[in-house]
Amino acid sequence: MNYEQALDKLTKYGQQHLLHFYGELNEEQKQMLLSQIEATDFEVLSSMDATHKMERGKIAPLAAMQLPEIEKKKEEFRRTGLDAIRADKVGAVLLAGGMGTRLGSDAPKGVYNIGVTKDLYIFECLIHNLLQVTTQAEHMIYLYVMTSDKNHDQTVAFFKEHQYFGYPQDHIFFFMQEMAPAVDHNGKVYLEEKGKIATSPNGNGGWFVSMARSGILDQIRKTGIEWLNVFAVDNVLQKIADPVFVGACIEEQCNVGAKVVAKANPDEKVGVMCLEDGKPSIIEYYELTEEMRQEKNDRGEYAYNYGVILNYLFRVSELERTMSHKLPHHKVEKKIAHIDETGTKVNPQEPNGYKFEQLVLDMIHDMDKCLPFEVVREHEFAPIKNKEGVDSVDTARALLVQNGIQI
Ligand code: UTP
Repeated sequence: MNYEQALDKLTKYGQQHLLHFYGELNEEQKQMLLSQIEATDFEVLSSMDATHKMERGKIAPLAAMQLPEIEKKKEEFRRTGLDAIRADKVGAVLLAGGMGTRLGSDAPKGVYNIGVTKDLYIFECLIHNLLQVTTQAEHMIYLYVMTSDKNHDQTVAFFKEHQYFGYPQDHIFFFMQEMAPAVDHNGKVYLEEKGKIATSPNGNGGWFVSMARSGILDQIRKTGIEWLNVFAVDNVLQKIADPVFVGACIEEQCNVGAKVVAKANPDEKVGVMCLEDGKPSIIEYYELTEEMRQEKNDRGEYAYNYGVILNYLFRVSELERTMSHKLPHHKVEKKIAHIDETGTKVNPQEPNGYKFEQLVLDMIHDMDKCLPFEVVREHEFAPIKNKEGVDSVDTARALLVQNGIQI
């Protein structure tokens, strides 16, 4: 793309200011900026005008498979799950492309050391959890790690430095997600440097498209993997490729399974499984009305009681079928480092604009049949979102100790 073409493209979206410092750049920097402008999808900016709340369809409760039922069928599910794992039908996808801004570290979240008496990295906890299953199955599971432009090299180097925490290197693959431009409150894209647009990872919803783009999907097809267990980097008690969960999804003939926990109280701020226009969906806590929060089913239980913990098992054929459906971009208010019109670097202390993210939870609605699968919160949910307080390093440490894990 040359200068005129770049200017044309930017003019279409009202973003000509991105060429403000063009004259000050050397040849290499000019080329880099023009290539970045060419590669950037400015269409996401149209989400700028969308109101925060998307139009929702008709919401109704969706029953979960609860602990007593799971307990009864546990051994049968486990057998089915282990058989699938041994037949290479199950792969795992670690979503590690996020910026982890709330944790306040510049490094990838997975390299965070949460140990007290010894080193214990978040990535290490996850690999440890996965190794428990591969030991049980006596079979290795392919692990695909999604990173972003911001943390890819560091993540790959970290795994290498730690010998993949004992996981066979030929079973771990890394792929990068796409980036999206970051804007100020008026929808003007920020510059990170004079010759570089400010971008951020485009959310965790693009993982399957990014996987396909990286060539990994071809490998998945060749291996015959039929199920992908997608999970977040920050839950250190995360069970990965849990055979009981896998077996339940297979036996129930679902297209997607979602691990869920009973809400601590009706007002807890978690996304809740539901039906939207008869199809599985997730409703955000702020979209639940007071009436819905208090609604009970005929067994006297809260009707909207099961919160998602970002651990899903997707049927690959369904992911392929729905791959061309465009997911919405959500605008999320964040602090965005940038340079101002004089070229001076700014590191804001307060949110100063928006990033655009696609969310994995929006993929659920494309799946026809979903199994919300209840797990015990204290055993499987120790998210590390914040430096202190709720869902922090301290709360996760306490939960690890409670589960007999040496920290
Ligand atoms: P979060 O929503 O907690 O976002 O991600 P985050 O970026 O890690 O943290 P904050 O909000 O900046 O503090 C949930 C999961 O989705 C992954 C994260 O790595 C985490 O596993 N994720 C998020 C991606 O893989 N890519 C993204 O673009 C965003």
